[in-house]
Amino acid sequence: MAAKWALITGASEGLGVEFARLAAAEGRDLILVARQAAKLEALAAELRDRHKVAVEVWPTDLADAAEVETLWRKLALRRHVEIVVNNAGLGYNGPFAGDDIGREMASVAVNVTALTILTKRAASHMTRQGGGRILNVGSTAGFMPGPNMAVYHATKAYVLSLSEAVAEELRGSPVTVTVLCPGATATNFARDAKMEGIALFRLMPPAGAAAVAKAGWGAMKRGRRIRVTGLMNSTFAFAPRLVPRALVTRISALFLK
Ligand SMILES: NC(=O)c1ccc[n+]([C@@H]2O[C@H](COP(=O)([O-])OP(=O)(O)OC[C@H]3O[C@@H](n4cnc5c(N)ncnc54)[C@H](OP(=O)(O)O)[C@@H]3O)[C@@H](O)[C@H]2O)c1
Repeated sequence: MAAKWALITGASEGLGVEFARLAAAEGRDLILVARQAAKLEALAAELRDRHKVAVEVWPTDLADAAEVETLWRKLALRRHVEIVVNNAGLGYNGPFAGDDIGREMASVAVNVTALTILTKRAASHMTRQGGGRILNVGSTAGFMPGPNMAVYHATKAYVLSLSEAVAEELRGSPVTVTVLCPGATATNFARDAKMEGIALFRLMPPAGAAAVAKAGWGAMKRGRRIRVTGLMNSTFAFAPRLVPRALVTRISALFLK
């Protein structure tokens, strides 16, 4: 049980790659999870070479809850997992009343179910081990309903609520839970979610992935509960407390068209 490991989900692309780089730069041994094994292997080779850390690649489909449970059981069996970054996530921009439900259900499975399993397993493992840090990647989407991205916004509201509640349960213990809430960030997320043409991405220049990950990583290490990145995003997160909810939803719809 000597080595202490950091588990990072969604490490094949975007923010996950940056979280992995931050962890490796601190000399941490890493477990990288996503579906695209070749990308995980390429990142693992980079990190082993540059930082001389141990990196294991665990290709996993996080949309499959049984695979998530198996992943955790196998990796935590003989390892002390000190950090878990629940970063993997996906969204979809389009009318809710369409016929295709596959992508929306995948986002519930990854953003909600897999994150819940790993947060729960990690919280009890870390409590037994005497400490640890959990970083859940939410979104400013979690602060308001999202017409045309109804399921994604709902999943991120869940991530925010779950993370705050568990952090409160663990208050005063050596296990902390942090939720990072970025706004538009320059990764493949917007392209894959069919969001590139919407007002949010046209009007607001996306933040760099490295800077967003660094802000989240720092907040996690300080044990902060919530980190919203960027002044404009902080305004988006705070304003719904002052405005009637129906109006918040109307305004949100304008940004998601
Ligand atoms: N980019 C933004 O504007 C933005 C804003 C706010 C919040 N976020 C949140 O930030 C997090 C990271 O997103 P990103 O921007 O870095 O997006 P990204 O570049 O599209 O990366 C998403 C990651 O999630 C993984 N993933 C998706 N489905 C998976 C599955 N079924 N099983 C395993 N891994 C899966 C992908 O890996 P594989 O495809 O290899 O499986 C990939 O590594 C997400 O939770 C997202 O909701 C993003």
